[in-house]
Amino acid sequence: MPHCGGSCCGGPDLGGTRRFFGKEAARYGRSFERKGPDAAQQALIDLVQREGGPRGDVLDIGCGVGPVHLSLLGRGVGHATGIDIAAPMLEEARRQADRVGLSDRVDYRVGDFVALAAELPDADLAVLDKVVCCYEDVDAIVDASMAKTHRLLAMSFPRDIWLSRLILRIVIGVSKVFGGGFHPFLHDWRCMGQRIADGGFELAQSARTLAWQINIYRRPTAERASA
Ligand SMILES: C[S@@+](CC[C@H](N)C(=O)[O-])C[C@H]1O[C@@H](n2cnc3c(N)ncnc32)[C@H](O)[C@@H]1O
Repeated sequence: MPHCGGSCCGGPDLGGTRRFFGKEAARYGRSFERKGPDAAQQALIDLVQREGGPRGDVLDIGCGVGPVHLSLLGRGVGHATGIDIAAPMLEEARRQADRVGLSDRVDYRVGDFVALAAELPDADLAVLDKVVCCYEDVDAIVDASMAKTHRLLAMSFPRDIWLSRLILRIVIGVSKVFGGGFHPFLHDWRCMGQRIADGGFELAQSARTLAWQINIYRRPTAERASA
């Protein structure tokens, strides 16, 4: 498998990520409450539906305040587990789940998904919505996500075009100065796609917004097994 990016020196330092997204939770919550899923999330949800919809449980990794899994629960998913490293995001996700009357069908776990993966339930669909660009060790988070899903892996990540790379480089530079210990990552997205292919998945659906690439991967073996 190609090596697409890892972390050195004893694993990623996630304190900055935790603090940064902890402070963002209220804003994410207000946005979801007012506008619903954003354009990339809506595209991801629609592509999952086009792929036959989730046929079982959902694992929403780096779920934030829950727009993706709460929307999918409204479309027939049985149960969702949301995991996020920032506890305030999950407090807000619980509030949102209460608001839409779905709190009995969600569980939330706080922590680094890569570290907690072995303790989490498997799912029919694993979601990584705008998360791989927030985590240094892209190989580890993608491998752990593939291991958790029986059928579908739905991802959004920055578009692989020069303008998007330039903007992300500027954001990374600014964040290194003002981000309080957090900055996003510009990984080799083509390499990540190859790693997912080598992991036994094929690209089933894709779409893009101005800033985001949305890809749905499926395990062909799972399709054959359920045929
Ligand atoms: C850009 S936000 C996206 C949140 C949500 N998916 C959305 O689009 O609204 C990235 C989220 O991933 C979380 N995150 C980053 N690395 C993580 C990790 N290793 N384990 C769990 N959550 C993580 C952050 O705390 C943050 O809430």
